[in-house]
Amino acid sequence: MLYKFYQKHIFPHLLNQVMQTPSLMDLRRELLLGVSGEVLEIGFGTGLNLPFYQGVDTVYALEPNTAIFQLAQERIDAAPFVVEQITASAEQLPFANNQLQHVVSTWTLCSIPDLEQSLREIYRVLQPGGTLHLVEHVLNRQNLNIQRLQHLLTPIQKKVADGCHLNRDIEIALLETGFELGEVQYIDIAGIPSLAQRMLLARVHKPL
Ligand SMILES: C[S@@+](CC[C@H](N)C(=O)[O-])C[C@H]1O[C@@H](n2cnc3c(N)ncnc32)[C@H](O)[C@@H]1O
Repeated sequence: MLYKFYQKHIFPHLLNQVMQTPSLMDLRRELLLGVSGEVLEIGFGTGLNLPFYQGVDTVYALEPNTAIFQLAQERIDAAPFVVEQITASAEQLPFANNQLQHVVSTWTLCSIPDLEQSLREIYRVLQPGGTLHLVEHVLNRQNLNIQRLQHLLTPIQKKVADGCHLNRDIEIALLETGFELGEVQYIDIAGIPSLAQRMLLARVHKPL
């Protein structure tokens, strides 16, 4: 009961604050500047990406958690393009095969319960040549001490941060799904604890 209260009334506000850390906002800007047209954003959260879209007509804002989505309303009202709310999970996307040119994920792939299924779904709805633009915190492949801690603390992190895994190797999961790697950058950013400091910023494509 107390946990449910935390999930519904406390965690969404914490998320909204933490996800506005300046180094994260810089990565949003870098990722989203070139995205245009119709975009599906999975795990829309509190709408923090909206100010960074430049040439976008429609954002399909897919978010399963309505308590989190409620905090996005002011940002949606201020957006100079259409934002369509979709209450659904990334494991089952309500889009046709080959429908979309762009899908965006910012710190969502860490939280999705079935990562592989969600990547298969993103691959299915993207047009051939379409792009998944993503920035995610990932498993630290270089530092074994951090990696051990990421594995050890993921069960606790999942409880306090709504399913968030510290130890996912997203690049491997993307390759296993069949995506072609385009831009791939690993960046250790400031202002975030070392366990979640290594970011993967990438653009990957469904092959033509
Ligand atoms: C760390 S938050 C990131 C929110 C937002 N993308 C941002 O950049 O601020 C993770 C988000 O993923 C969402 N999420 C969790 N499980 C999901 C699923 N199965 N499908 C889609 N989104 C999911 C959560 O509700 C939450 O909004």
